[in-house]
Amino acid sequence: MEHDSIKLDSQPQIFETDARVFDYLASELKRYSEMPVSQHISLSGGTTPKALFQFIVQSAYRYLINWKQLHFWWGDERCVPEQSAESNVGEAKRLLFSHVNIPAENLHPIPMDMINAAITDSQPRAYAFALQQFIHDMKQSVPEVNGYPQFDWILLGIGEDGHTASLFPGQFNPSEIAPAILCTKTGTEQFRISLSAMTIVNSLRTTFLALGEAKAPVVQEILMQQGGFKQYPASWVLRHARAAELILNNQAASLLPKEEH
Ligand code: 6PG
Repeated sequence: MEHDSIKLDSQPQIFETDARVFDYLASELKRYSEMPVSQHISLSGGTTPKALFQFIVQSAYRYLINWKQLHFWWGDERCVPEQSAESNVGEAKRLLFSHVNIPAENLHPIPMDMINAAITDSQPRAYAFALQQFIHDMKQSVPEVNGYPQFDWILLGIGEDGHTASLFPGQFNPSEIAPAILCTKTGTEQFRISLSAMTIVNSLRTTFLALGEAKAPVVQEILMQQGGFKQYPASWVLRHARAAELILNNQAASLLPKEEH
């Protein structure tokens, strides 16, 4: 479907069941893991990926994926200790990486370990240090193209307000030149570290994953260019990504015109 501003490389991929979504994504991870050189993949946070992790661990993909060929990063992280249920890397380790044979050096969390050490009034300084360490880690490991880290594949979620990673409407700055930013989640003032828009759209492949009825309105607004879509960071990324795809289940696609199905 072509819009004058959103150019998806293909129609949104709409799957009948979540199991089929996860089977597709796991098969793609297996395909990447069979490539001759190691692949840098950035995962999204939040709840959607957790079901993918559980699917992989309960399927043959747990053993079929050549994990040592994959390096995992995160598109954003909450500034909380890894032990917290809020931690994106903590949950990924608990639900997936502690169950598969992946070398520890292949996991590249946004480093929050100093959060525990920092006392309250130096937390923002600790977050700024974590941000600089994250940028350094990417520079050390992820190929740099056009002045930005270039991931092989970035998986992203979409918030009901149109945010993606921790790029939130109203504070989103597409001309931010840093590869990653420190920000706060709108409304909760929770500190976050996030890839910047420029890094995200520099990726060789960008995949948005939106599942469930709750995402149907924002998906409709973005794809049909309605409502506040112009202010949505997810819209901006879709417009500017090198190669963008949108993966939906029937529920998330339920407000799209039938011809989109
Ligand atoms: C985060 C995410 C965020 C997430 C969306 C969708 O750290 O919360 O990176 O961008 O992908 O908010 O979250 P759900 O999958 O929980 O709906």
